[in-house]
Amino acid sequence: MVTPTPADKFTFGLWTIGYNGTDPFGGPTRPPLDVVHAVEKLAEIGAYGLTFHDDDLFAFGSTDAERQKQIDRLKAVLDSTGLTVPMVTTNLFSPPVFKDGGFTSNDRAVRRFALRKVLRQLELGVELGAKTFVMWGGREGAEYDAAKDVRTALERYREAVNLLGQYVIDKGYDIRFAIEPKPNEPRGDILLPTVGHALAFIETLEHPELVGLNPEVGHEQMAGLNFAAGIAQALYHGKLFHIDLNGQRGIKYDQDLVFGHGDLHNAFALVDLLENGGPNGGPSYEGPRHFDYKPSRTEDETGVWDSAAANMRTYLLLKERAAAFRADPEVQEALEAARVFELAQPTLGEGESYDDLLADRSAYEDFDADAYFGAKGFGFVRLQQLATEHLLGAR
Ligand code: GCO
Ligand code: MN
Ligand code: MN
Repeated sequence: MVTPTPADKFTFGLWTIGYNGTDPFGGPTRPPLDVVHAVEKLAEIGAYGLTFHDDDLFAFGSTDAERQKQIDRLKAVLDSTGLTVPMVTTNLFSPPVFKDGGFTSNDRAVRRFALRKVLRQLELGVELGAKTFVMWGGREGAEYDAAKDVRTALERYREAVNLLGQYVIDKGYDIRFAIEPKPNEPRGDILLPTVGHALAFIETLEHPELVGLNPEVGHEQMAGLNFAAGIAQALYHGKLFHIDLNGQRGIKYDQDLVFGHGDLHNAFALVDLLENGGPNGGPSYEGPRHFDYKPSRTEDETGVWDSAAANMRTYLLLKERAAAFRADPEVQEALEAARVFELAQPTLGEGESYDDLLADRSAYEDFDADAYFGAKGFGFVRLQQLATEHLLGAR
């Protein structure tokens, strides 16, 4: 059960397993990883697909011939291994031209270049059968308040996403966009910093139905937010188009650790939500389980594949543990006692109006608010301990 197969839909970014260890304080600790070898290894360890930025596959500034050669090599190894490319994205952050962003650079020529780069990668994604196009605006932001007119920058962001939406409609392409929020890094502050900010932005678009989210575990946690709760809200709005799974230990730089190597309790809640849809039912998530992690720079190539496998194994272990948690009669009883199911009951009765509520003396005049819960609790701690014991394999 904890051996991954393509049916589990585990996918990896080429930039994740291909991360060579470079950080702001030191250069590479591993040699470059060739895409053909990467895809063969991913197939061997049970992955379903590969994702990539344009510049991961062919270096920025490649000639058309160099670019095509890499695309052909990728296509050949996808054919021989059966791996898929369910998502692609564009690098609008590494080349120096994007130092003030792509869609929202103060410089108009840069913005036009960014749009062309994205359209080119979008075409490639469609050609490879990708259904999701991720937009992580790592450089869309600023270090200094005086340097960026945030409202005008959001207007340019909107202009860009509207153009892309219109493009796929006109071309009849079956692909949707997923915005990936992040609060900071590499910019001091990034536009659309959290799930909530991005959800509000999406509603201002000309075609909001084409645009959803690609939330990343560590990015919400860098802002001190509860990732599983953010994902629940994204699902609630029908906006969980894709997901970046990884690990993060608290509010600090973006760690991109292996999934589960950060807040394990929250990872358990997340897998339970993605797989089971929550205690009161509701949509779960059908898309790829995408890992956006970085194999630590202390590791050699064996460590790269061990860490890739660790992401999948931890996910499957948590899935197994979450199923056991849901099936435990004591958990069901504790959920009942904690009134978790009662939340599904509408607050007003069927057909009840506010006049009826105002006329209901038991709701207010005769309701003894002090006595009502003075003597009894909800038992949430007991419930969390049951979750912890399942997570530890103690039940
Ligand atoms: C990060 C981001 C990036 C993006 C990826 C897609 O760790 O800051 O997750 O890895 O997801 O580049 O554009
Ligand atoms: Mn990250
Ligand atoms: Mn990511």
